[in-house]
Amino acid sequence: MKRMLSGIKPTGSLTLGNYIGALRHFVEYQDEYEVIAFIANLHCITVYQEPKELRKNLKDAVALYLAAGLDPQKATIFLQTDVPEHAQLGYILACYTYLGELNRMTQFKDKMAKGEQNLTAGLYSYPCLMAADILLYDPDYVPVGDDQKQHVELTRDIAARFNNKYSPTFKLPEPLSAKVGARIMSLSDPSRKMSKSDPSNNGCIYLLDDPAVAKNKIMRAVTDSYGEIRADKEKQPGLYNLLEIAASLSDTTPEALALEFSGKGYGELKKYVAEVVCSSLNSLQERYREILANNVIEDVLKEGAEKAHRIAYKKLATVSRKVGLEIR
Ligand code: AMP
Ligand code: TRP
Repeated sequence: MKRMLSGIKPTGSLTLGNYIGALRHFVEYQDEYEVIAFIANLHCITVYQEPKELRKNLKDAVALYLAAGLDPQKATIFLQTDVPEHAQLGYILACYTYLGELNRMTQFKDKMAKGEQNLTAGLYSYPCLMAADILLYDPDYVPVGDDQKQHVELTRDIAARFNNKYSPTFKLPEPLSAKVGARIMSLSDPSRKMSKSDPSNNGCIYLLDDPAVAKNKIMRAVTDSYGEIRADKEKQPGLYNLLEIAASLSDTTPEALALEFSGKGYGELKKYVAEVVCSSLNSLQERYREILANNVIEDVLKEGAEKAHRIAYKKLATVSRKVGLEIR
């Protein structure tokens, strides 16, 4: 069985973008692949997090993984810090990563360009830790949204470099991004990604939003003045985003949906999109509440960490031996 690995960094409440771009794929794939899905808590603190909030977000993220249908019997679900090999290999790989490579990472470059103050070394070296997250497990595929592709490419470069210097050690993973829904945009500014750090509260739908609030955000979504429903990403990005959201959640394509709504008004389409989104949120939230009430999260994480650790410690031992870190 091919292996698939991905992580989510819950620096805030998970969003509809996370669900469409990442979470739902893990669930789809868990029958076909061996899925390893973890909560990247170390990645969260590359930017300061209020401890109480971070704890809640981590727990909610696990609950939402489960609520989305990830089955702990099939998938390995764990917290990054429960498997210390991630940080250990992350440090080692940082010694095989060039500054020039890290300087090219768009996520970091963007923050620098915006003139954000007090950017940390943790944030800068984050791609090395992400490479470790991946390479510890030799996955075949890493399903990520578009923004993370560059980090997976860097992971491949680091792996190839290590393999060449020593001997084949790491499998080179393929990034996997869906054709539809790899980049859901903000509802209030379709030129920006829908993100937890959206400056306008109306642009982002959170998975734990009250469905009535989510509906409101959709009804107020920024569109255009063409007055015609077409799936034209370039000219009508706001409308296309709405089509993409609804299409992803109902297994169709933005193009097919646009045809279905051709000749109708934007209001009608928005109502439909809101219905589709609210129905997904309702069922997700119902399962989320059940999971919290059943108190299963700690057991799931403990079992997941044990399974992950059995794979990770062997890889770290191999790497340490090859590098010459051990005296035996
Ligand atoms: P993050 O929230 O940055 O930790 O992202 C977790 C996963 O969700 C990554 O695979 C992202 O690429 C994906 N993701 C985050 N935001 C979006 C979005 N707006 N559209 C599609 N995928 C997203
Ligand atoms: N960096 C990813 C993000 O911000 C989260 C992440 C951490 C990840 N480690 C990973 C994703 C390993 C895939 C594989 O979304």
